[in-house]
Amino acid sequence: MKTLIKNGMVVNADESRRADLMIQDGTILTVGTDLNPEQGCRVIDAQGLLVMPGGIDPHTHLEMPVGDIRTADGFENGGRAALSGGTTTIIDFVNPKRSQSYLEAFDQWKERAANATCNYSFHVTVTWLDEKAEQEIRLLAKDHGVNSFKHFTTYRDTIMLDPDKLLRSFSLARELGCLCTVHAENDEIIRYLQHKLLAKKITHPKGHVLSRPPIAEGEATNRAIALAKVAGVPLYIVHMSCAEALRAVITARESGQEVYAESLCGHLLLDESVYYHKDPEVAARYVMSPPYRSAEHRDALWDGFKAGHIQTTGSDNCTFTQAERNRGLHDFTKIPNGSPGLEDRMRIIWSEGVVSGRLTQEEFVAVTSTNAAKIFNIYPNKGVITPGADADIVLWDPEAQHTVSAATHMQAIDYSIFEGMTFTGSPHTTILGGEVVFAAGQVTALAGQGKYIARPARQRIPHCHS
Ligand code: URP
Ligand code: ZN
Ligand code: ZN
Ligand code: ZN
Repeated sequence: MKTLIKNGMVVNADESRRADLMIQDGTILTVGTDLNPEQGCRVIDAQGLLVMPGGIDPHTHLEMPVGDIRTADGFENGGRAALSGGTTTIIDFVNPKRSQSYLEAFDQWKERAANATCNYSFHVTVTWLDEKAEQEIRLLAKDHGVNSFKHFTTYRDTIMLDPDKLLRSFSLARELGCLCTVHAENDEIIRYLQHKLLAKKITHPKGHVLSRPPIAEGEATNRAIALAKVAGVPLYIVHMSCAEALRAVITARESGQEVYAESLCGHLLLDESVYYHKDPEVAARYVMSPPYRSAEHRDALWDGFKAGHIQTTGSDNCTFTQAERNRGLHDFTKIPNGSPGLEDRMRIIWSEGVVSGRLTQEEFVAVTSTNAAKIFNIYPNKGVITPGADADIVLWDPEAQHTVSAATHMQAIDYSIFEGMTFTGSPHTTILGGEVVFAAGQVTALAGQGKYIARPARQRIPHCHS
């Protein structure tokens, strides 16, 4: 069946124009003025709405095992949360255990995602490396559609890659035409400060922010940039949260190095004061790494988007229940790390970015969709409204207001770190592969309706828009 979207304002990263869209078989057929419905064609009136490429969240952790627990949001409910917030594609992370087969871990994650309601793809974390691992990584890149590999510089006991192996992994990625991504925090600084704080009997969640200062992130970002330069590989800094790290990125970019950065909706909204809440149960809800920062850092990040130094926004959706967080009430180092955001990322960026005058609507599309599509090589199938592109579309109501509450959200946790906040700008309708999957406040996507998106390796990333 064909679908005609009429009377909307089509917003792409480079321009906005009034146009109608004809969709057929999951693909955008035509973008033009005054298109007429054919017999049997479904018509959606987008008068007063913005017609934008569906959001791409390049950073989620759905149903991720961590020790004896798993993140609460899975691919079915998490995908519904995503669609209700205008996101149609997520890029999640496969985290092999040390010495686990990379191919086996990849298959496990694909099985978990079989019930996905939104489209999904995978980065793979390099947690260990020897010749066998390298062979498997080659297969992931050549045959399984993985073109981005993540490296942790902290979490020494679990998923941090031996620092002596980073350069080896980076040069393998270069050989394969893949992108390296890094969680950049200096593990030594963090452990030193954690011990000092615990020795002083500081066990409250505020120890989390005190033990992960911006200098730890700045140092690790600088180091990752230096190693990527030596290896000659493009680098992407995930969840960049502070001015120190941004300075390192700007210096590298200005010298011509291919470095990209992502910031999270939470870091663009919340303040470090959340960790000082007198009730440690409440403060524990905000524990994620790197931690939320002061206004000075948030302002720097917004300036970084405006200047094009930061290209993407993610959620890093990684949800743990209150009971799971309470495991660390008497020792902040034992609180499982992570935050929600998959459901609200686009609303937060519209409200804080566009409504507050920091971003244009075209820049909003760039930082919520287009740039991620380009960097992770799914453009122009995704990330743009143009003939031939996949019909993953959000009809955005720029005036709609949405108040977040744990009582009404689709995420599977029993609190919200955005509780009671009202955001302006919200999806009216979300379309996935040409099908309406969210309308009138209801998600109708079925389990398994989301598709796996293979992302082939390639040599050059196209120009990203600020
Ligand atoms: O604290 C965080 N960010 N948890 C999720 C895993 C990661 O580091 O991205
Ligand atoms: Zn991380
Ligand atoms: Zn993450
Ligand atoms: Zn540009």
